[in-house]
Amino acid sequence: MKESLSSGKLIRNEITPDNLTQVYYKWVDDIGKHIEDVDKEEYPLLFFADIMSEGKIPKYKDLPAKLCYEGDDTPFFVLHKQRLDLNDTKGYDKFWSIYNKPPKEEHRNYLLSRRDSLIYTEERMKKGAYYTPLKVVDKAYDKLTEVLGAGWQKEYFVWDMCCGVGNLEMKHSNHRNIFMSTLDKADIDIIKSNHTCPEATVFQYDYLNDDVTDDGKIDYSKTKKIPMQLKDAIKSNKKILVLINPPYAEAGSTLGKNSKQNVSKTKVSKYLMDGYGKSSNELFTQFLVRIQKEIPNCTIGVFSKLKYVNAPNFELFRNKWKADYLGGFVVRSKAFDDLKGEFPIGFLIWKSNIKSTLISDVRVDVLDKDCKYKGEKYFYNKPSESFLNVWVERPKANKTVVVPLKNAVSIYDKNVCLNNWSDNAIGYMWCQSNDFQKSSNMTALFSSVWGDGHGFYITEKNLLQSAMVFTARRVIKPTWLNDRDQFLQPNKKLSKEFQNDCLVWMLFNGSNLTASADNLKWNGKDDWKIVNHFIPFKPSEVGSNTGWESYFMVDFMENLKFSKEATQVLAEGKNLWKEYFSETDVKKVRDDLKLNRPDVGWYQIRKALENRGISFDNFQTAYQKLTNKLQEQVYEYGFLMP
Ligand SMILES: C[S@@+](CC[C@H](N)C(=O)[O-])C[C@H]1O[C@@H](n2cnc3c(N)ncnc32)[C@H](O)[C@@H]1O
Repeated sequence: MKESLSSGKLIRNEITPDNLTQVYYKWVDDIGKHIEDVDKEEYPLLFFADIMSEGKIPKYKDLPAKLCYEGDDTPFFVLHKQRLDLNDTKGYDKFWSIYNKPPKEEHRNYLLSRRDSLIYTEERMKKGAYYTPLKVVDKAYDKLTEVLGAGWQKEYFVWDMCCGVGNLEMKHSNHRNIFMSTLDKADIDIIKSNHTCPEATVFQYDYLNDDVTDDGKIDYSKTKKIPMQLKDAIKSNKKILVLINPPYAEAGSTLGKNSKQNVSKTKVSKYLMDGYGKSSNELFTQFLVRIQKEIPNCTIGVFSKLKYVNAPNFELFRNKWKADYLGGFVVRSKAFDDLKGEFPIGFLIWKSNIKSTLISDVRVDVLDKDCKYKGEKYFYNKPSESFLNVWVERPKANKTVVVPLKNAVSIYDKNVCLNNWSDNAIGYMWCQSNDFQKSSNMTALFSSVWGDGHGFYITEKNLLQSAMVFTARRVIKPTWLNDRDQFLQPNKKLSKEFQNDCLVWMLFNGSNLTASADNLKWNGKDDWKIVNHFIPFKPSEVGSNTGWESYFMVDFMENLKFSKEATQVLAEGKNLWKEYFSETDVKKVRDDLKLNRPDVGWYQIRKALENRGISFDNFQTAYQKLTNKLQEQVYEYGFLMP
């Protein structure tokens, strides 16, 4: 080993007080689990026997367990005079290729004195009562070490004011510096009975209500729950790290019966959140706001969704809450067993003091669901006037009543929010929210209004802009990582080719639900009709014997120049349109798809042809080429930031 060290080929990590708990968990995985016939509670004894030996020679003679060797390289342990063999030594070799043993002389006694904390963590693991999985906590500790330096566990007092059963603190190797408080007394009892962090100060405390006065101050004499040592540390400006995973999930699910409305009734939201707008409904922002008021000079390591960094609803929060970003990561929500949905969860470290600036752009490491490093990513704090959802001019509604839709030709019949048309409108685009989370299934084009609103009317004037919005929102595949990315207004002059490409891409996209139909039943009448203004071909080109009611799109496209990719899509699309008119569908299909007019839309044609078993292969190939081209361009034009 000395040779390889001096040749620089292999450098092993030291075991120190700061990484003891992390190293212990790795040791349990790689070695402990392979020791035969041993009770898990004995692992810490075997762990110490293993790390406190130099080669084959133990550094302490009086430890309860002993590491021995059979022959030259088969290790086994002796505990209570019993021989314990490893059923596999591969993990043993792997582990000791990463770490150096024994630990440096100056750390050895301190490490041994931490033995108790390891014994009880095993007991706790059995109960499985964790919110933040330990593999994620592990990464948070690595990040804290990277950002705050190797000695942070000694240097900082840590306060977790929503500690639950305390797993965020389980990897900490210096419990005397830890304060843990949480809402539920039952959690405190679990922490105490399991001896989690036995030397930490643990107390019940409702951080969003306790000690908050009606005039927006924090007065510890109200509940007298805050320990003297913590009060002193805050008062005398000691180095404090707030380490939290606050209840950032839907408030209702975290707080049992409480609904989102009840959440806003905490004293923090009532007395401390003036001017924070919608963000004050969220528990995690309430934590952040009180923390900043109470400990203006502190470091905060916080798990949460990313919305406070980049979402429109949090703009007021970002205009008030000041902190300098030090570093962090996002991890896929699937890493947390009990979370539904696919989105990034951040662990971001902030330094807050009076000189701090407003939140700006944030660079994070990206970790997958197994906490493996996958690269880096930026989250941008952009003003909401730069968002795409306010780019298109929105024509006003008029008094003409139209039939509200929930799909291309089906009626939106419950709780209708919108049933008015607009002057000169040719369609309506459902365009809800401004991020990927909603864009994939809340972007669609209709020939009447989408009954729930949340969109805008399309006219000749805003048609090309609408096509670009539609494309930007739909052309990139949503993933867990881009889920909270915001769409932005373009930042350079848009070429004619790009605009026309977007128009064609929209016309042949699966979310183009423009259609025609007669005799729709709604609101006591059975003669509602919808007219399709989005047909790119003349009747004679596609074999229809009857004309369209509207030639809007044919006329609009007449003088446009199309790229070779768009031209190919139009050609393949025309073939499918022709195919549709080459046969008449069976009655059931005609009824279901409302094929009672010639000016049917792309949705109706697609569905009818799918039913006939027609191949879309040639069309798909052409459409994919246009898709590939546009996927790059939405980034180039600044609709999305990489
Ligand atoms: C997401 S869990 C995190 C628990 C633990 N720190 C972890 O990381 O696994 C949030 C915790 O905050 C607690 N909590 C909710 N509201 C609170 C409040 N007002 N004051 C203190 N703790 C609260 C919940 O009971 C829950 O244990």
